[in-house]
Amino acid sequence: MSETQVSEAEIAVHWREEEYFPPPASFIGQANASDPAIFDRFAEKNFPECFKEYADLLTWDKYWHTTLDTSNPPFWKWFVGGKLNASYNCVDRHLAKYRNKAAFIWVPEPESAQTLVITYQELYVRVNEFAALLRDFCGLKAGDRVTLHMPMVPELPIAMLACARLGVIHNQVFGGFSGTACGDRIADSGSNVLITIDAYYRNGDLLDHKAKAEDAIAAAKKNGAKVEKVLVWRRHPGTYSSKTPMVKGRDFFVDEVLADYRGKIVEPVSMPAEAPLFLMYTSGTTARPKGCQHSTGGYLSYVAGTSKYYQDIHPEDTYWCFADIGWITGHSYIVYGPLALAATSVMYEGVPTYPDAGRTWRIAERLGVNIFHTAPTTIRMLRKLGPDEPKKYNYHFKHMTTVGEPIEPDVWRWYYHSVGKDEAVIVDTWWQTENGGFLGSTLPALQAMKPGSCGPGVLGIYPVINDEKGKPVPAGSRAGNICIRNPWPGIFQTIYGAPERFVQIYYEKYCKDKNSKDWHDWPYFAGDGALQAEDGYFRIIGRVDDVINVAGHRLGTKELESATMTVEEIAEAAAVPVIDELRGRAVEIYVALKPGYKPSKEIEAKVAAAIENLIGKIARPKNVWIVPDMPKTRSGKIMRRVIAGISNFTGTGDITTLANPEVVEVIQHHVQAEKVERGDTPRKLTEQELEEIKAFGHAE
Ligand code: PRX
Repeated sequence: MSETQVSEAEIAVHWREEEYFPPPASFIGQANASDPAIFDRFAEKNFPECFKEYADLLTWDKYWHTTLDTSNPPFWKWFVGGKLNASYNCVDRHLAKYRNKAAFIWVPEPESAQTLVITYQELYVRVNEFAALLRDFCGLKAGDRVTLHMPMVPELPIAMLACARLGVIHNQVFGGFSGTACGDRIADSGSNVLITIDAYYRNGDLLDHKAKAEDAIAAAKKNGAKVEKVLVWRRHPGTYSSKTPMVKGRDFFVDEVLADYRGKIVEPVSMPAEAPLFLMYTSGTTARPKGCQHSTGGYLSYVAGTSKYYQDIHPEDTYWCFADIGWITGHSYIVYGPLALAATSVMYEGVPTYPDAGRTWRIAERLGVNIFHTAPTTIRMLRKLGPDEPKKYNYHFKHMTTVGEPIEPDVWRWYYHSVGKDEAVIVDTWWQTENGGFLGSTLPALQAMKPGSCGPGVLGIYPVINDEKGKPVPAGSRAGNICIRNPWPGIFQTIYGAPERFVQIYYEKYCKDKNSKDWHDWPYFAGDGALQAEDGYFRIIGRVDDVINVAGHRLGTKELESATMTVEEIAEAAAVPVIDELRGRAVEIYVALKPGYKPSKEIEAKVAAAIENLIGKIARPKNVWIVPDMPKTRSGKIMRRVIAGISNFTGTGDITTLANPEVVEVIQHHVQAEKVERGDTPRKLTEQELEEIKAFGHAE
């Protein structure tokens, strides 16, 4: 590995207007969208019919009669009357031309292990066999929900596509989440089958994953849900790699049961366009995660269209989206979008820098990856651990993506020059779990890149920045709340089991007339602060709703706090973000103890452990601070912005109106002295970061 170290100061950014980078001519020459006439086709005057172009990328069993039905706002219906099957569209229809082409290339984490290629033909067989098992062994049918708690192994997309084949709604929970988090999602979704695996590799260790299934089942039970069957894939078929006993009659090894289904073919069930395809839980303002319900026809059309034009996927490309399928990015841009286009999609099991900082680039070189897609947190890590690594490897990307959090222009430049070798176009794609696919991005051959800005709204998406009162903020002036004025096919249908929350969270704030059936009156509130430059490009600042974005993963402050409150000694808790060099944001937890308890390292450790057990490792706080009392308003509300200011060394703002201003100084002194001692002081923050910290907690 190189000796060169990147100092924190170099990673620090200053958000001035950045220069444009034109797309390389070599990219333009081969791009799927290189004729500017496409902008006219997707102009507002052609809405909603413009999205026919996306839907026509699919094979429909029955063509739709109505492109967009707005009769029950904001429960939009797309491609009404149409019928299709997502598994058929991602697998069967490619067989005639691409039977022997790789659908997935899976790279196990241990570098000595062989890469696994799954052709479209083999994928077809495996999806069918597993669908037969789900139908005949588990009794699952269209409309049932199934929870998956799987890591990055090919059995995950196989299981998803098998569900889709039957019209069964899959609910994949990120493998890194705890069993308890999984159990809550099992209960909320009403699943009685859990699909999991015994173990998987991460950072050189074979982790026991089946252990989490026991916690999941216990948590589901607590919420009144019974898991009847647990399907356990084995990381090494034939060998059980978990210490947790299998429960007779409930737990089954998939490789054993599958033997009964060899060669079975399951007719794809023709589903209405509006039938739900999957649920994906995400965090928000409340302690309970929301199950975002995505449709079959609208969603699949949208991810196919955006994969074609924004990811520029051609069937002959080798496309590597380095995200986890447990997040929406993986659903849309590892599985459904690329497969709908007959791409070759690379999956990697492990961490980017295992066993060293060159691993990612060795994979790219060996497989001839030419489209690379990842998140700023990964880019920062790869840069920090191996800034000079990419040039040692002979790979060439034509296209790269960044997604999930704002990317600092300086990090963007390293991505462009060092990773992309000045040859690749970059798209910075802004969107959310709720959205199905991209909302903001440059169209790669036709719009220049600008570091730190995602670009304008994508084709058929018309964003606006609103002030608090709903007045549009002119471009080139101030930041505000970014909204999308129109519906689009990829938008989620509802929050599973909570339609009123769906309306309230995403539409109520800016709805112009609740009785209106005109979509113009129902802008979608994204929950992100943003500003638009005069050129129309958007710069996303971050969440306005008390969500902390850790390494591109959304964590709700309420979720973190309620996990903290399960610790016996804790009376009050507050979670705040701290700026983190690698992960974008990290979490710090402030707690006040119940009377009679004394601060101790044990209590701090208990809080960290509770969060890890109830949510997962990614949520583990950077610090737990035990304080004598929380700073509060006179009405008793915890002032999160004050403690966020302390954690980030950005000042506490006006505290004169607090009920207990004296406590602020005590906390500040204690926390900051300790941080200085540990060498844990932040770099100079950017203006946007300062804004974010100052605004934190205002949503309450
Ligand atoms: O704050 C925005 C940030 O991530 C949030 C959505 O997170 P999640 O639902 O987990 O989906 C992540 C992957 C789509 C957004 O509200 N975000 C996402 N992409 C970007 C971004 N912030 C800045 N730039 C982006 N490209």
